[in-house]
Amino acid sequence: MKIAIYPGSFDPITNGHLDIIERGRRLFDHLMVAVAVNSAKSGLFNFQERMDLIKEVTSRMPNVEVVSFKGLLVDFVEEKKAIAVIRGLRAVTDFDYEYAMYQMNNEMSKTFDTIFLLASGEYSYLSSTIIKEYARYGRSVAAFTPRPVSEALLKKFGHDG
Ligand code: PNS
Repeated sequence: MKIAIYPGSFDPITNGHLDIIERGRRLFDHLMVAVAVNSAKSGLFNFQERMDLIKEVTSRMPNVEVVSFKGLLVDFVEEKKAIAVIRGLRAVTDFDYEYAMYQMNNEMSKTFDTIFLLASGEYSYLSSTIIKEYARYGRSVAAFTPRPVSEALLKKFGHDG
């Protein structure tokens, strides 16, 4: 069974992430969406909330599993015996960080490869950070996230009436 891991902060999941999940799950037998617990970024949603939202919006995808991991991504990938890590690339601005992460992970472990999927055009400018900023001030972000996420954002910021 070919297992791939799609790691990230997912704070919260956007339509861009969902697109990568849909495409990634077609390439592998099993796709684990892995929420990084010790990410340096402090979050709006806690890890359980992030995982619950991802579970809700991927519930109809039989080969997708939502998990969290602590510590290094390489250790988690080796433990799960995954053969690939999937990362989405939006624009060139993502490249430097992704390049460094790929090279470092590749130095640390040769048991898996990293596959970069270019964001589909309509999602190429989406970011959880920017979406949160609009939602914070009461703007609807329903066009950019799955419905449970836009509703959770409005609630989080007290704009749900
Ligand atoms: O969605 P993000 O914030 O771009 O995801 C980054 C993430 C969580 C994949 C990355 O920070 C990560 O792998 N963190 C786990 C700790 C680790 O392995 N660090 C070394 C690589 S930066």
